[in-house]
Amino acid sequence: MPRCDTTPACPAWYFSEYAPVGIDLGSKAAVAAYDRNQGTDPHNDDALLDRLGVTEGTQLVDLACGTGSLAVQAARRGAVAHGVDVSEEMLDFAKARADRFGVAPRWHHAGFLDYTHHGPLADVVTTKAALHQLPDFWKQQALLNAAAMLRPGGSFYLWDVIFSFEPSSARTHLQQWIDTAGRPEGEGFTKADFEVHVREEFSTYTWIVEGMLQRSGFDIVSHDFPCPTHAEFHCRRR
Ligand SMILES: C[S@@+](CC[C@H](N)C(=O)[O-])C[C@H]1O[C@@H](n2cnc3c(N)ncnc32)[C@H](O)[C@@H]1O
Repeated sequence: MPRCDTTPACPAWYFSEYAPVGIDLGSKAAVAAYDRNQGTDPHNDDALLDRLGVTEGTQLVDLACGTGSLAVQAARRGAVAHGVDVSEEMLDFAKARADRFGVAPRWHHAGFLDYTHHGPLADVVTTKAALHQLPDFWKQQALLNAAAMLRPGGSFYLWDVIFSFEPSSARTHLQQWIDTAGRPEGEGFTKADFEVHVREEFSTYTWIVEGMLQRSGFDIVSHDFPCPTHAEFHCRRR
């Protein structure tokens, strides 16, 4: 599948989704460090797959799959799993993980915006810790694309850094998050990593994301805002 930004048909105003913003994930070492810092845990992936009813034969697409743990765990239970990411380094890491477990999810070097899903419509589409890579206009386009690959009644799951605090108290909440979540160098994501997130990436408010989900053709089945800076949405395709 050609990258949209390399085809003559791509308008000059199109977003460059192959140049992700924020912390550097552009090398093997950076990807391995990301996987450690993110605390990738197959048990957590399994718990989410259980909640979403993923079983043998489920068609699942994980958008911005990163190091691939969710797609690999889905494939291990017999789902037809697709992992999509703009980073070749991430996909290489994900493939190596899949090889270790003897499963073969289908990996796609593609983005939220230009991934075209072929074959049966998906039963479940997921995306974790990644939609914030897109500015809001492009988040909406990405959600429309996610809805287009999902069958009516199918599940869409979103987890990300999304803000549920009142805009007037943003400064306090953001500083609190950065101060409490930041770890010393070598022991996890640092304060500087979270500062980059706020400064250079595109996390937004829950009420904006809710509107975008509804306009994409999703009904919100449940949401959880476990802290003022993080949110999950479980949606059903209308
Ligand atoms: C913070 S990581 C999250 C990875 C994984 N979902 C997880 O939960 O660990 C963000 C991922 O989004 C990918 N990414 C950034 N922009 C993207 C885009 N427009 N389309 C697809 N993937 C994108 C990055 O390459 C990276 O793998």
